[in-house]
Amino acid sequence: GKGAAMVTAVAYRLAAQHAERQSILNTLRLSRAQLLNLKSRMSEEMDRGLSKNAHEQASVKMLPTYVRSTPDGTEHGDFLALDLGGSSFRVLLVRVRSGTRRNVDMHHKIYSIPQETMQGTGEELFNHIVDCIAAFLEYMGMKGASLPLGFTFSFPCHQNRLDQGILLKWTKGFKASGCEGHDVVTLLKDAVRRRQEFDLNFVAVVNDTVGTMMTCGYEDPKCEVGLIVGTGTNVCYMEEMKNIELVEGDRGRMCVNIEWGAFGENGELNDYCTEFDRIVDECSNYPGKQRYEKMISGMYLGEIVRNVLIDFTTKGLLFRGKMSERLKTRGIFETKFLAQIERDRLAMRQVRSILQHLGLTSSTCDDSVLVKEVCSVVARRAAQLCGAGLAAVVDRMRQNRNLNQMSVTVGVDGTLYKTHPHFASIMQETLQDLAPQCQVTFHKSEDGSGKGAALITAVACRVKSEGQH
Ligand code: GLC
Repeated sequence: GKGAAMVTAVAYRLAAQHAERQSILNTLRLSRAQLLNLKSRMSEEMDRGLSKNAHEQASVKMLPTYVRSTPDGTEHGDFLALDLGGSSFRVLLVRVRSGTRRNVDMHHKIYSIPQETMQGTGEELFNHIVDCIAAFLEYMGMKGASLPLGFTFSFPCHQNRLDQGILLKWTKGFKASGCEGHDVVTLLKDAVRRRQEFDLNFVAVVNDTVGTMMTCGYEDPKCEVGLIVGTGTNVCYMEEMKNIELVEGDRGRMCVNIEWGAFGENGELNDYCTEFDRIVDECSNYPGKQRYEKMISGMYLGEIVRNVLIDFTTKGLLFRGKMSERLKTRGIFETKFLAQIERDRLAMRQVRSILQHLGLTSSTCDDSVLVKEVCSVVARRAAQLCGAGLAAVVDRMRQNRNLNQMSVTVGVDGTLYKTHPHFASIMQETLQDLAPQCQVTFHKSEDGSGKGAALITAVACRVKSEGQH
């Protein structure tokens, strides 16, 4: 009868909507072949980044860090460290002890950097940093002390030596004018001079990946890779000196900061990008830049999710087709919500209350199921992309060393990696599948970037004083 026909019509409509949602989500799903392909594109780009001739054109810059020696346990002393470029700006006092009391002890304070300062002038930014250092020294009762200082500065820098870092370009949320092309140590020294209150003794500029690798290496000598999956994403690893054409010398190894976030700037990811990635890229601080990072890291994943939800809503596939001002607001899906929504055994009603908290109130139970699925597809893709990149890195190290099998430890830090319930396991699964000849152990680093800067400073001071004897 008529009733049955209506039921059938509704069933058809639901089936069609389901198919439409899935076909959109499928654009965000990657096949094994695509991941393998990404792995090999990444290794090609790494080759190009290291070579003198292709370096200029390469998307990944493979920046030499001048970090060669790892801590041997004999370094000691008090060091200051600055950590700029992650989710917070910190000043740290780090005490490194040697011998039987060998350990690292630290005090730190977090200072906020207002959005206007991040995107104002370089002078304002560095004045603010110096204000924070002054406040910290005062707070620690150390006014006037001039300790060796390590600066964790988590942006791409060209280095000719350890205590210099010429900013190549800002990434993530930073955009202060007048800094690109300049040595950040000089910029900071100038700001210290303007204040005329104290002196700083700069020893090292360190990327957060390098700090993370060093911190982890203090406990595990097999740690020769550093990975960050936080606001941004990046990797460093120990490369053979003979392959680093930009630095003289052929002996031993040096840590190379890959700056892999920039992968894709030569179009390497075009086949993988969806319309959502394109929108996120276009609305970002740096359109066309950091394409790989924009598909992986915490600063962007929520935006991808939000754009998928907007698309679903516009097509009448979500929130009963009702668009809200909230959903149109940039940045509402912070990393912590992505992590929360995907927590195991989370009842749908809890997902719903997270959505309500986000101001997305009209949601039904079906809506909650769908939002959770979108989050999980986007995070899975990020973890797989990251695993495929990492497969290129560890396989390269294995080949460098002429090994059939290699075991290596990766030091990891970053809020997304640490708080997301599935990111780590999906990434590891992908890595194992794509680099089966490598046995990779992951070691979460506690406070790697700040502590690492201090350790690198400590090693540099040790090596210097050894040279003087
Ligand atoms: C961005 C920066 C890089 C840093 C990473 C993680 O990709 O360019 O230097 O390591 O974020 O913070």
